[in-house]
Amino acid sequence: MNKKSLLFASSEVYPFVKTGGLADVSHSLPRALRESYDVTVVLPLYRLIDRKRFNIARLESFEITMGENVYPVELHGTTLDGMEYRFVYAPLLCDREFLYGSAECGYEDNAERFALYSYVLREMVRREPYALLHLNDWQCALAALFIKEDTAIKAKTLYTIHNLAYQGVFESSILPRIGIDERYFTMEALEFYNQVNYMKAGIAYADVITTVSPTYAKEILTPEFGCGLEGFLQFHKRKLHGILNGIDTDHFSPATDAALIECYTSAKGKKASKSDLLKQLGLKGVTKPLFVFIGRLAHQKGIDLLIETLPKMAELECTIAVLGEGGGAYGDALNAIAERYANVSVTSGYDEALSHRMYAAADFLVMPSLFEPCGLNQMIAFAYGAIPIVNRVGGLADTVKKLESFEEESASGFGILLTSATSRALLSAVKKGCELYGDKKRFEMIVNHNMRCDYSWSKSAQEYLKLYQRVLK
Ligand code: GLC
Repeated sequence: MNKKSLLFASSEVYPFVKTGGLADVSHSLPRALRESYDVTVVLPLYRLIDRKRFNIARLESFEITMGENVYPVELHGTTLDGMEYRFVYAPLLCDREFLYGSAECGYEDNAERFALYSYVLREMVRREPYALLHLNDWQCALAALFIKEDTAIKAKTLYTIHNLAYQGVFESSILPRIGIDERYFTMEALEFYNQVNYMKAGIAYADVITTVSPTYAKEILTPEFGCGLEGFLQFHKRKLHGILNGIDTDHFSPATDAALIECYTSAKGKKASKSDLLKQLGLKGVTKPLFVFIGRLAHQKGIDLLIETLPKMAELECTIAVLGEGGGAYGDALNAIAERYANVSVTSGYDEALSHRMYAAADFLVMPSLFEPCGLNQMIAFAYGAIPIVNRVGGLADTVKKLESFEEESASGFGILLTSATSRALLSAVKKGCELYGDKKRFEMIVNHNMRCDYSWSKSAQEYLKLYQRVLK
């Protein structure tokens, strides 16, 4: 039987370009679906993408009319590990330094850029009869509206919310420039406190909506986590599903990871990685527990909490290593602490290989996110045998079971859960970690258990396939 065709659209895809977890999921989820569907993944051809390295070649050109302007667009393509990729090139969308802007401020014309991207997605579906279009985050959300409005298109749409904190909200004056009629500027459609909200298009017009964990799917219906869209989501909740992300277990495998000084398959095998990393970072104390933080230096990730707690953590018998993306005031505060304490090291920037070595070296991963739609780091930590210390929200609540209830038969990994998102709770969780580390036998038993747990896409991909089937019926 012929497979149905699926176009998976994202604004970033690993290994071409990555700013966050969206890129990882856009890499690994399509791969988990391709046995059942003919999958093509599409993303913008940003200047940052190395066309030569990935053999990206031009396939076709066409024009897109948006508002009063006509934009020349090129479609490029490549195949990587048997996966089909398409890249959308348009000067407006691609010819600049970053993807979305600087850390502080998005590009002024992001509204036009990603509206154009969504028009191109519609054009792709017109040219090739994809059965289903899987759209991700606000950057692709308008495509759900464009496709719904084109009665000649039979394709269905599924829209995934990776983070409700980024909705794509713009001045209403952009409507004529993005070629969207005033009649969509209503509460039921795009209007949001007198502005235009792209994510609302995905929520309102997609045939199904998913978000990246079951707990987050419930949280976003509440004012605390709904970012102003809780009412709108409640209205559409019959088509909202929470499906937990997985990780690419080939890429994140300490048994084969080329970035590691020594590969390993159990707690005992981590020693070489730990002493190597400590040496590299100028830290001492291989026999002390090593706590690491890896991630964006953003409020969401609990950075304020971490900065507040670090000096007290540093007084404990432990070592601490931070790898943080995005500098600014957070970076300065972290560096100031690292200067004061010999057992604290801070590295800034995004470094995939170093992050792998840190997971391998770490005894604990500190991840005190205030909210976390899914989070991948805690699952990577399980795979590499670092025990996660997390706040009980979103995907963290769905993936990390509390240490006190440890049982070897469980299919889930275990970690330390904060009792609240406070500095005091974080400090007491870290102390708990130090104690556990002192009980070598129990510590290693838990690490070994966590390393055996399955956080691949195998189960969640089935859930997506079920949803696809349901919309395509
Ligand atoms: C966003 C979310 C994160 C999630 C990722 C992939 O980055 O903040 O929690 O894991 O998307 O879905």
